[in-house]
Amino acid sequence: MSRILLGVSGGIAAYKSCELVRLLVRAGHDVVPLVTAGAERFVRAETFTALARRPAGEDVYLHLTRADVLAVAPATANTLAKMALGLADSVLTEAAVAHTGPVIVAPAMNPRMWAAAATQVNVATLQARGVTIVGPGTGDTAEGEHGVGRMAEPAEIAAAIEAVLAATGSGAPAGAGALSGRSVLVTAGGTREPIDAVRYVGNRSSGRMGVALAAEAARRGAEVTLVASNLAVAAPAGVTVVQAPTAADLARETLARSAAADLILMAAAVADYRPVDPRADKRSKDAAGWTVELEPTQDVLAALGEVRRPGQVVVGFAADHGEEGLSKARVKRERKRCDLIVFNDVSRPDIGFDSADNEVTIVGAAGELDVPKGAKSTVAAAILDEAGRLLAPRA
Ligand code: CTP
Repeated sequence: MSRILLGVSGGIAAYKSCELVRLLVRAGHDVVPLVTAGAERFVRAETFTALARRPAGEDVYLHLTRADVLAVAPATANTLAKMALGLADSVLTEAAVAHTGPVIVAPAMNPRMWAAAATQVNVATLQARGVTIVGPGTGDTAEGEHGVGRMAEPAEIAAAIEAVLAATGSGAPAGAGALSGRSVLVTAGGTREPIDAVRYVGNRSSGRMGVALAAEAARRGAEVTLVASNLAVAAPAGVTVVQAPTAADLARETLARSAAADLILMAAAVADYRPVDPRADKRSKDAAGWTVELEPTQDVLAALGEVRRPGQVVVGFAADHGEEGLSKARVKRERKRCDLIVFNDVSRPDIGFDSADNEVTIVGAAGELDVPKGAKSTVAAAILDEAGRLLAPRA
């Protein structure tokens, strides 16, 4: 999987870039749309965000993070000129100045604007800097003129992007494309076990890690179902969400869907115990104490391990303390019959529960991988790379 910054500037050809986003997402890439105000006159930024299957409320500086390629399609005469000059007055042009990797532009404009001396000088300047120019082609323009200025077709632009990625060696790592078209089941959040009508036994899980996994799997082209327990964050676009507030709900909804899943990621913090006899009403306060008896819940991950079918990949999570916790996670992986256990050291206050960052050790049968501290989306990508490697190739 490669990260692609996709600049869309203001031309009628912006609608064709929707198809370009779809092609790139289907190929398993992480697409970050950068839509200018001019482009929004034709297609709303939300359309691109939804097609790119990006989670809501992402980092506002995403356009300045590392990317494997910057593609601008359509590139108007105005945007080409700004890129040639190094102006930075929008997220697109800021990204163009900051980005250090390969750049591809697909110009689209009126034939006389394309032929203009100023435009040709700007194109030559960009080419001299190593920018790849795709198109424009000859045809009828939206204004009824005929000539050179039509944006190249989305498939041609996608092919140019793939060629650049292959040439720079930043194409998909082994296993990254493995999720395309696969059925992925993710659990996320923390269950709440009622004590009475208003009180519950809960935990601190926000659901961020599971949501990041669901978003990343969807971005890689998987059909994703997210079994959600009391998420503190929004579910990503493009995934099917099933609400499961309690451990019993989560067990029922997950086990009902497990047979169809190629990959199951049990990121939810499922209660291990629940009140034996929750009250239907609210208990009023009085001077007496209140003893609540708890009983064990079903271990869903262990149950999945029992019924798993050949070829299915099951990933569990373990939140525990330090080296000793890691040793327990290794034992847990075998006991619960899962392929991978993602170990999270909860003795660290800066990662894990309710934090934007995480740092994990992915424990497998063949070895262990330490994933350094990073955004949960980055950690999710590493987990899916490992899980993808274990998925049997399609027939
Ligand atoms: N899990 C589950 N069903 C439960 C409890 C946990 O499916 N009732 C899953 C979690 O989703 C997670 C993994 O099991 O993937 C976490 O295991 P954990 O709760 O750490 O295991 P325990 O056996 O409870 O840990 P401990 O060793 O502390 O008993």
